[in-house]
Amino acid sequence: MEDHQQPNMEETRICNSNLVFAVNNKRFELPNVDPSTTLLQFLRTQTPFKSVKFGCGEGGCGACIVLLSRHNPLIDRVEDFTVSSCLTLLCSVNGCSITTSEGLGSSRDGFHPIHQRFAGFHASQCGFCTPGMCISLFGALVDAENSHRADPSPGFSKLTVIEAEKAIAGNLCRCTGYRPIADACKSFATDVDMEDLGFNHFWKKGDSQATKLSRLPSYSPNNGVCTFPEYLKREIKPSLPLDSEKFSWYTPFSVEELQNLAKATDAKSRTLVKLVVGNTGMGYYKELERYGKYIDLRHVPELSMIRRDHTGIEIGASVTISKAIEALKEETEGESLSEFASVLKKIAAHMEKIATKFLRNTGSVGGNLVMAQSKHFPSDIATILLAAGSFVHILTDTMHEKLTLEEFLARPPLDNSKSILSSIKIPCRETIKDDRSSEMDRKLLFETYRAAPRPLGNALPFLNAAFLAKVSHSKSSGGIIINKCQLAFGAYGTKHAIRARKVEDFFTGKTVTIGVLYEVMKLVKATVVPEDGTSYAEYRSSLAVGFLFHFLGPVTDTTEKISNHCLDEYNSSSSYNDAKVKEKQNQLDHANAKASTLISSSKQVVQLNRDYLPVGEPIAKSGAALQASGEAVYVDDISSPANCLYGAFVYSTKPFARVKGIEFKSKSPTDGVAALISFKDIPKFAENIGSMFMFGTESLFADEFTRYAGERLALVVADTQRNADLAANHVVVDHDLDNMEPPILTVEEAVEKSSFFEVPPRYCPKQVGDVSKGMAEADHKILSAEDLSSLHANLLLYDDIQIKLGSQYFFYMENQTALAVPDEDNCMVVYSSTQCPQYVQTTISRCLGIPEHNVRVITRRVGGGFGGKAMKSMPVATACALAAHKLRRPVRMYLDRKTDMVMAGGRHPMKVTYSVGFKSNGKITALQLDILVNAGISPDMSPLIPEHLLAPLSKYDWGALSFDIKLCKTNHSSKSAMRGPGEVQGSYIAEAVIEHVASAISMEVDSVRNINLHSYNSLSLFYGVGSGERSEYTLTSIWDKLATSSSFHQRVAMIDQFNACNVWQKRGISRVPIVHQTVVAPFPGKVSILSDGSVAVEVGGIELGQGLWTKVKQMAAFGLGSIKCETTGSGLLEKVRVIQSDTLSLVQGGCTGGSTASEASCEAVRLCCKVLVERLTTLKEKLQVQKGSITWETLILEAYSESVNLSASSYFVPGITSKQYLNYGAAVEVNLLTGETSILRSDIIYDCGQSLNPAVDLGQIEGAFVQGIGFFMLEEYLTNSDGLVVTDGTWTYKIPTIDTIPKQFNVEILNSGHHQDRVLSSKASGEPPLLLAASVHCATRAAIREARKQLLSWGCLDGSPSAFDLKVPAAMATVKELCGLGIVERYLEWKMCSKRKTSSN
Ligand SMILES: Cc1cc2nc3c(=O)[nH]c(=O)nc-3n(C[C@H](O)[C@H](O)[C@H](O)COP(=O)(O)OP(=O)(O)OC[C@H]3O[C@@H](n4cnc5c(N)ncnc54)[C@H](O)[C@@H]3O)c2cc1C
Ligand code: FES
Ligand code: FES
Repeated sequence: MEDHQQPNMEETRICNSNLVFAVNNKRFELPNVDPSTTLLQFLRTQTPFKSVKFGCGEGGCGACIVLLSRHNPLIDRVEDFTVSSCLTLLCSVNGCSITTSEGLGSSRDGFHPIHQRFAGFHASQCGFCTPGMCISLFGALVDAENSHRADPSPGFSKLTVIEAEKAIAGNLCRCTGYRPIADACKSFATDVDMEDLGFNHFWKKGDSQATKLSRLPSYSPNNGVCTFPEYLKREIKPSLPLDSEKFSWYTPFSVEELQNLAKATDAKSRTLVKLVVGNTGMGYYKELERYGKYIDLRHVPELSMIRRDHTGIEIGASVTISKAIEALKEETEGESLSEFASVLKKIAAHMEKIATKFLRNTGSVGGNLVMAQSKHFPSDIATILLAAGSFVHILTDTMHEKLTLEEFLARPPLDNSKSILSSIKIPCRETIKDDRSSEMDRKLLFETYRAAPRPLGNALPFLNAAFLAKVSHSKSSGGIIINKCQLAFGAYGTKHAIRARKVEDFFTGKTVTIGVLYEVMKLVKATVVPEDGTSYAEYRSSLAVGFLFHFLGPVTDTTEKISNHCLDEYNSSSSYNDAKVKEKQNQLDHANAKASTLISSSKQVVQLNRDYLPVGEPIAKSGAALQASGEAVYVDDISSPANCLYGAFVYSTKPFARVKGIEFKSKSPTDGVAALISFKDIPKFAENIGSMFMFGTESLFADEFTRYAGERLALVVADTQRNADLAANHVVVDHDLDNMEPPILTVEEAVEKSSFFEVPPRYCPKQVGDVSKGMAEADHKILSAEDLSSLHANLLLYDDIQIKLGSQYFFYMENQTALAVPDEDNCMVVYSSTQCPQYVQTTISRCLGIPEHNVRVITRRVGGGFGGKAMKSMPVATACALAAHKLRRPVRMYLDRKTDMVMAGGRHPMKVTYSVGFKSNGKITALQLDILVNAGISPDMSPLIPEHLLAPLSKYDWGALSFDIKLCKTNHSSKSAMRGPGEVQGSYIAEAVIEHVASAISMEVDSVRNINLHSYNSLSLFYGVGSGERSEYTLTSIWDKLATSSSFHQRVAMIDQFNACNVWQKRGISRVPIVHQTVVAPFPGKVSILSDGSVAVEVGGIELGQGLWTKVKQMAAFGLGSIKCETTGSGLLEKVRVIQSDTLSLVQGGCTGGSTASEASCEAVRLCCKVLVERLTTLKEKLQVQKGSITWETLILEAYSESVNLSASSYFVPGITSKQYLNYGAAVEVNLLTGETSILRSDIIYDCGQSLNPAVDLGQIEGAFVQGIGFFMLEEYLTNSDGLVVTDGTWTYKIPTIDTIPKQFNVEILNSGHHQDRVLSSKASGEPPLLLAASVHCATRAAIREARKQLLSWGCLDGSPSAFDLKVPAAMATVKELCGLGIVERYLEWKMCSKRKTSSN
């Protein structure tokens, strides 16, 4: 490989035998390469550009995005577009130029304004997603600059606000909650209102527009970034392909060449051949085989053209989805084609929801259809093109064939090398031809639909549909006749998209009446039937009904509003304008106005604390710009030492079995495999230990028995990560189930077998008051099944009250990773991405049988933890260390996303039953809870859960509270302490009880909450000394404040009005309080002053993205600043560097978690600074007498010459428990046809005490809240019947994205003032806000209640509209089910019935 900045002319001669491209203007020339190598693999392993991160490897996260630029010499134009480097094959970038975030700018050459604005808007926390975000934004800016739009005002780009937000729609971030990222992006937009941009480092509230603009890092197009170097333009001739034999990469330039290749391939049929265009299909169908030949279809003109004439538009199969969208959107001229043009525009609009921009830029239309045809991929394109009556052209080695898309889909799978999809044609005349009506009379209706967990895409739909109907006015009936229709449904769990022929036939020629629609819906339900085993089968069928109703509902004889948009479209040009409908629609418009932007507004209110400057300043996160440019070094970015090997785990798929054998499949690819390490490789006198905490240990590898699905069985060690991963996929495990006891997979089975973990008495929470007495005082009771024996006259009987809470996966963006390097004398240096280096050190020492001082664990930064890098990071580091110890070579490992998800364990699932007694006014008098917690196979941190559950659950005055909490030991992976462990569930359980009580006595939930809020006295009863002083109890005042600041009561009234006027959309609102107890753990610190006055700080706490280093830096500057030299003001801040954690340099580092590591680390640093200042004071006073005034630098130099000890260590041991009082409100809207929930607005008031850094705390609050939205609304972490995780990637596990967060997001950080027991009066912010997201769930429940009331009013609901159990997460299917899967049919029945009644009167 060659790599230099400017090649000399000698070397720039045309060379087609090597692969040539540029990365950030550096030239790379490769004489050969394995054709299956991806661009990501190359960049991360062969170049210094590590900003491209591996987040998923399946196109689902955006961490790996780069800008790819191609030069077209014919028109001398460079085309730039973003791509996912994890799916782009290296051979396909021949002649291209790649720009990564490092290429935009760097600490050395100056950061790009994108980097600076990300830092200044506080848009980077752990930073792992940030380079990808920056490139997405850069790509959008480049696109906008290349457009023909008018020049923007100086300092802005041509980008619009909407485009700026959409630019990052496909990028995942688990830390920030997206709002600050959206602000950073929007700050470039030409139409941005600077007032809308949130809290940032650049300006202060009240600054003028001009000041704001002058403070923003200035932007000009490209800011000097050259995306395609001139030398490459001169050198590359695109018509010269790669040497096909050498690279096994074939580039046909004509159909003939392609056909010849196909023939040749056929002759040597032993070679596995892959046709490729964008290769994005690999994101879904993982490449487990090695292909011998790749055929690149992008250069065959017939496959790459777009042809448009009066018969329609023909799109070559290799045309990318982005290019197809562009073409479809182009204005089509001519009157007769205008309807066709509108069809094309709708197809384009639908295509914009497919995947993400960076995938659409390389993924082809043909690739999509072939995946749909051959592999049953749930395609959108197949469905929408089917409704448009499309045709396809197929090429074989001898002939061309034209067939309808419907015929193509129904055929047996296309033979990869023999048949090639050449083009797709959307016909014009055929689309709209029918025999029944005159041209004058007819109107063409066309709509497309998809129901997916994320509105903007990168989520496969549960069902998609597209409908084309040609309708006309019936003179006889006055209604609308369907002259012809094409109804397509897909992605619902069938082999491929279908045309609903029976429904079409039934419909044709009929007038659209309620009665006809009713019959049609029955037929649709019978037609759209998912195959056996499809998840949410009934839901999917009901979506089909909902969509068709949405399509034709507005043109029925008695039109009822479905959606303004729909009516708008139909009314605009139709001859059957319904005046009544229009009038009604106008009335509703004001209430139903939908923001066109994703985040319509946000507000951040912070109170700054200036008592301890620079502590309290909202300074930008330390290292944020480095993170943005990709220069920040994470464990996997450390260059591999010479001789390094790579590991990949082999895990069990059975919950309880004898492991008879672990071996490679015969003929499997085991290239480069060096070893297969298992428990047998653990040194003789050492322990099989993979993780440990104070409650016990967990094995590194299963011994002869495996005890849960997902358990580590062995480690494949190979020469590259790819070879290790590939080989691990080819290992066969012989699981023997003979004579084995059945595994314990449910908490009920654990109870039956008394399989529990002990909770040490000091971690057992205390019962409060006398529950029997409280029950006796109650006017009403809701009793659990077990308590039914105590029947009572005024009992409200619910015989099966259960709250079931599922798990949640951490989804840190950086997967688990470690690097172990053997050192002299049996020592081991391990770089681990961990929250608990101290425990990693102990675990490795015990597993290797060496003393702890032989193990040095180093952690600089972690790409997101959320509790998942505590216990679960330990086996990864330990396995690397064990392999390195055995093989005497460095060993590293970066888990793939699937393995990570299978092994991670996640949040604790639980089952809760309860009995509650209450007065008629809603005051609760007693609560008895039975909670079964699924803890998995080992204790992990689970014995802490009861305490963590009970503290937030006690936020209400229950009168008396008793409970029985059992930690069930089951054959599942051990559950760990995910952000807000137990606390999220505890807080939610309290709300579920309150909701239940309110519905039982038909009271407003908000009033029941209000009446049960604690007084200070009852608070003391529940929290003892932890309740603090009376003045600290801020909850009730925040509760009232929120009502005012969020206009809660006015909005309740508006929502009532909205619900009364809208049939198909219902809204709900909810206000939820939180009390959160945090326990501060001991933490060490060390501050060393260097001879030039710079300061190195070490702390036990780990920087996970939560801003710990930033707060520590501020504290060190504050602490040392108290010496008051001339230059110790804000200048000292710049002199402080927090350095990586090293277990041999600073012992007793503990575990970073529980929201308090920042405060405790700060306090440890403050103690060190105090010592240092004491040591320096005498000298300073002496020098001051001598010199008058003294600078910090002089003082330190003098101190060095006087041999003052300038390093101080401390170990902060707290004696306090502090509390948080929080409050929150949320409003949501539920779509009854799909179950989709939109969060319209969220208002948070958060008591942060005197915040150490409000910018950091704001980021924690918003980020945690959005993670909570994931738990309550979206994320389903599911297992199969053996307990093996099946939602194991970005395809099935959906964390929130920018399009699923609140549209209005307001956060106020309250400063509740001074408190001596807290670190500079601060309170934690990392975890508690996550609990607040329960409000979204409660508001959804309120909206569903409204839907059910409506059902009741139609006479279609059995039982009470309020008595229902809304699962967590309240995913689309769950919501829709509760609103009525048959709601459309019920509505039509009700309408028919009402009509009959009217006519009989
Ligand atoms: C994260 C992600 C999200 C996605 N979301 C959606 C979605 O919401 N809706 C949706 O519809 N799609 C979605 N897709 C699918 C996406 O549209 C396809 O991956 C893409 O269009 C495939 O095009 P490609 O050029 O990359 O195909 P490739 O990956 O290059 O090829 C795919 C397959 O088709 C074969 N092939 C390609 N072209 C031809 C041809 N002309 N003749 C014969 N065989 C051929 C290849 O051999 C291969 O087997 C998503 C994909 C990803 C990765
Ligand atoms: S790593 Fe490429 S998209 Fe996730
Ligand atoms: S900052 Fe986005 S994932 Fe951490």
